[in-house]
Amino acid sequence: MKNIFVIGAGQMGAGIAQVFASHNFSVKLFDVNEEALKKGIEGIYKRLDRAVEKERMTKEGAEQAKAHLETASGMEDAAHCDFAIEAVVERMDVKEKVFRQLDDIMPDHAILATNTSSLPITDVAAVTNRPSQVIGMHFMNPVPVMKLVEIIRAIQTSDETFERVEQLAEQLAKTPVDVSDYPGFVANRVLMPMINEAVFTIYEGVASKEDVDTVMKLGMNHPMGPLQLADFIGLDTCLSIMEILYDGFGDSKYRPCPLLKKYVAAGWLGKKSGRGFYVYE
Ligand code: CAA
Ligand code: NAD
Repeated sequence: MKNIFVIGAGQMGAGIAQVFASHNFSVKLFDVNEEALKKGIEGIYKRLDRAVEKERMTKEGAEQAKAHLETASGMEDAAHCDFAIEAVVERMDVKEKVFRQLDDIMPDHAILATNTSSLPITDVAAVTNRPSQVIGMHFMNPVPVMKLVEIIRAIQTSDETFERVEQLAEQLAKTPVDVSDYPGFVANRVLMPMINEAVFTIYEGVASKEDVDTVMKLGMNHPMGPLQLADFIGLDTCLSIMEILYDGFGDSKYRPCPLLKKYVAAGWLGKKSGRGFYVYE
């Protein structure tokens, strides 16, 4: 697999495109929103230049990565690619549409992956005519920094597809883990209830947001407190994952905190909207 098609140039898609291009894959990056595509590419260039400044990458390496990266003018550009990874908005209807298009456009040998945080891979695979070649490849945010990739097998995913994607993650210098398709997979099934519980502690007035974050940073050595991390992930994404856990397991322990719902309803989505639990300039 050499030619990679990345759909969605937001915080995850741009990071994924950067990592593939930095490891000598030819990457085409697509977004329905031209402004988002431009911003995505600018962000990648900025991070590559910074990696050179910090001596984490040679100037030649960064130039090569830039040369391996192209913007796509439409989904048709996936026609000559071997692997597609989708990182569009976390909505099943949008993902299904993207997968139907990819299935029509891409060659028979191509593997189709989704970076979804929580939507069922099995349902995504079912809308294609190649369900055994559909898989979850769940990168963590920020993609260029975080080492983990959850490789999620839909019930239809073949062992061959799994092995090829596992190898692909290793070629990107990431550590893959083998996960089955159940709500939240592993990362978000463990992480999100902690974030949700942190929101409950401020909702119930147990402590201030700053103190909740300090407890987890200094008490547990987490690099970010849970409320700061929620802002960084996006509160809409956090809420959508809690709803999928609640719905998928039917257990009240996954009930989303009413305060989290209220923030999302207000459009306070975290860092990306300028305000979440904290305010961003
Ligand atoms: N993209 C690329 N690189 C980034 C970055 C970004 N968005 N943000 C920070 N970095 C890099 C910086 O360039 C910096 O490297 P240099 O110093 O060499 O330039 C390095 O990361 C450290 O950054 P900072 O010094 O600015 O800040 P920090 O020490 O606090 O580290 C962090 C930032 C790596 C994000 C760290 O705070 C951290 O690990 N936070 C927790 C991240 C986490 O838990 N991610 C998982 C989220 S859950 C998820 O992704 C799954 C899901 O489905 C929701
Ligand atoms: P984002 O909002 O930053 O970016 C999504 C991008 O997709 C936007 O630029 C949007 O214009 C584009 N888009 C929407 N519909 C499209 C379509 N039909 N075709 C092409 N582009 C389209 O979102 P994000 O945080 O990068 O999340 C993307 C995916 O990654 C989601 O499935 C999310 O659950 C998952 N994810 C997010 C995180 C996180 O921490 N934010 C971590 C892991 C996985």
